[in-house]
Amino acid sequence: MRFYPLRVGCLLVVVCFLSLSWIKSFPDDGAELQVLYKRLLMAEELGGKVSKDLSIILEQLGNMTRAANVSHLWSNMSSSSNTMVKHLMDDLSRQPLPQASIHFYMPHLREHPNSLVPHVVLGKGRSGVSMVLGIPTVKREKQSYLVNTLSSLLSGLTSSETQDLLIIVFVAETELQYVEGIARSLSENFPKEVQSGLLEVVSPSQHYYPDFNTLKETFGDSKDRVKWRTKQNLDYSFLMLYAQDKGTYYVQLEDDVFAKSGYYSDMKAFATLASSNEWLYLEFSQLGFIGKMFKTRDLPMIAEFFLMFHKDKPIDWLLDHILWVKVCNPEKDNKHCDLQKAMMRRRYKPSLFQHVGLHSSLPGKLQHLKDKDFGKQSLFQAHSNPAAAVNSSMKHYQQHSLERLYKGSDFMWALTPVQGDYILFSFPQPIRIAGYVFRSGNSQAVGDKFYNTTVEVLSSYTTATEKLLDGSPSKYKRSDSNFVVIGEFYNGVAEGEIAEVLQPISALRLVVQSDSDVWALLSEIHIKV
Ligand SMILES: *[C@@H]1O[C@H](CO)[C@@H](O)[C@H](O)[C@H]1NC(C)=O
Ligand SMILES: *[C@@H]1O[C@H](CO)[C@@H](O)[C@H](O)[C@H]1NC(C)=O
Ligand SMILES: *[C@@H]1O[C@H](CO)[C@@H](O)[C@H](O)[C@H]1NC(C)=O
Ligand SMILES: *[C@@H]1O[C@H](CO)[C@@H](O)[C@H](O)[C@H]1NC(C)=O
Ligand SMILES: *[C@@H]1O[C@H](CO)[C@@H](O)[C@H](O)[C@H]1NC(C)=O
Repeated sequence: MRFYPLRVGCLLVVVCFLSLSWIKSFPDDGAELQVLYKRLLMAEELGGKVSKDLSIILEQLGNMTRAANVSHLWSNMSSSSNTMVKHLMDDLSRQPLPQASIHFYMPHLREHPNSLVPHVVLGKGRSGVSMVLGIPTVKREKQSYLVNTLSSLLSGLTSSETQDLLIIVFVAETELQYVEGIARSLSENFPKEVQSGLLEVVSPSQHYYPDFNTLKETFGDSKDRVKWRTKQNLDYSFLMLYAQDKGTYYVQLEDDVFAKSGYYSDMKAFATLASSNEWLYLEFSQLGFIGKMFKTRDLPMIAEFFLMFHKDKPIDWLLDHILWVKVCNPEKDNKHCDLQKAMMRRRYKPSLFQHVGLHSSLPGKLQHLKDKDFGKQSLFQAHSNPAAAVNSSMKHYQQHSLERLYKGSDFMWALTPVQGDYILFSFPQPIRIAGYVFRSGNSQAVGDKFYNTTVEVLSSYTTATEKLLDGSPSKYKRSDSNFVVIGEFYNGVAEGEIAEVLQPISALRLVVQSDSDVWALLSEIHIKV
């Protein structure tokens, strides 16, 4: 019974083949015949796919037959279809299969036939879109920027753009709990996009990765770095292979980028413009592997190249080597080669993606790389604030000081805050303050927010404060030095009003309650009088 659909499948393939060669042998003398020929060409392509699938099924069947010793089943089949299947099996076994070559570079995959099957955690099987964005993400010891990255990619898309786009988050981890945690977080943050199939979450099989401990250390890279760069090759290749049949263009991103608004239409327009030329990739950022656009039909070749040399070199070198192999003439000089390569990759300016992460996914590696061509987004919001002496226990980075932020000429960027760190505003005379806004993080450092940080005030009437705090149950909490906690940062922002009983105010401060993992950037201070 099981063999029935198989038999039909085989027949289909055989019939396609026979009729195609028959048509081809005729002189080309009619439009109808041409149409027919085109259709058959398509059918032949389809047949190629089917035959690949068939070969796997046949192999499995062969294995099952042997295991269960059901050879008597074969004898029950009509002898003609029996021999046909046998021929087909012989034919196929002579053809090199795509899987066979991947197995050659990654022999450990042989032990697990399903090791190339993606684990689609969230997804509605969307395909046929213009653009597929691939975002690999790994577990980081420090801050994760993934949600912020997706927010910036999704904000500002028009409704037709959301239908013509697919964003694949590839969680490059095999720990199921972690993968599901990411999927849960993304469905909570982006329910509409998950529901519509715009956003997918995919992870590799448990058996996809080889033993990373046996890798050779090359190019002066440490063991950890070799492991990291090797895994990156494997991750990007898996994602590319998964994405290849889902759309026209594929754009490689990372999980810690910030996208310029309008990026989608800018990229599509540039790709359309470039479509008359021969190119391998278009660059929408000059950093590493961020914002590189490929034609999906090139992805199998690119991914296979990466897999072939995944143990040998980092991925951006391999990408450059593909260009070299394709267009450089070893008998000519470097200049000639550079020129040829430049034709195959085209740069779009200004850059559309900026790198925001400070912590690379390689533990201990800090990524200060910024794309200079990205241009300035508004990085802070200026307000005219009441005169105050400002003071902070935090060490600021470069010129990004608290004073400059308070004056409205910069943002404040401070090195990783620890418990007890503060920012203090002392007013020369007690003043009435209606409310306050403190916003942390900006487009360059989306994750550098204040976490677990309170807003506290010092009332000029300490007796009033005492009364307020003694009144049961108070919505205010006592802090040290007569300060009262009136608010805290939530999602990087602290915002509120100040009650009448506390007025007038002598001082206002922010206090960090626990050690942070990341730097802290304050982009807006508004003290409303
Ligand atoms: C069939 O069995 C061989 C060896 O017994 C094994 O290498 C191969 O992976 C199996 N194929 C499938 C599709 O299960
Ligand atoms: C399979 O069945 C055949 C007869 O149908 C028998 O000769 C052979 O020993 C069996 N093989 C195994 C492994 O059971
Ligand atoms: C195969 O044929 C034998 C008799 O020739 C019969 O006993 C058996 O049930 C058949 N098996 C199947 C799967 O049709
Ligand atoms: C402000 O900081 C300076 C050192 O930078 C310190 O001497 C001074 O006491 C601080 N003022 C307050 C009110 O904490
Ligand atoms: C905030 O800091 C306090 C004091 O260190 C700590 O007890 C609390 O767990 C922290 N809260 C969060 C959400 O980290």
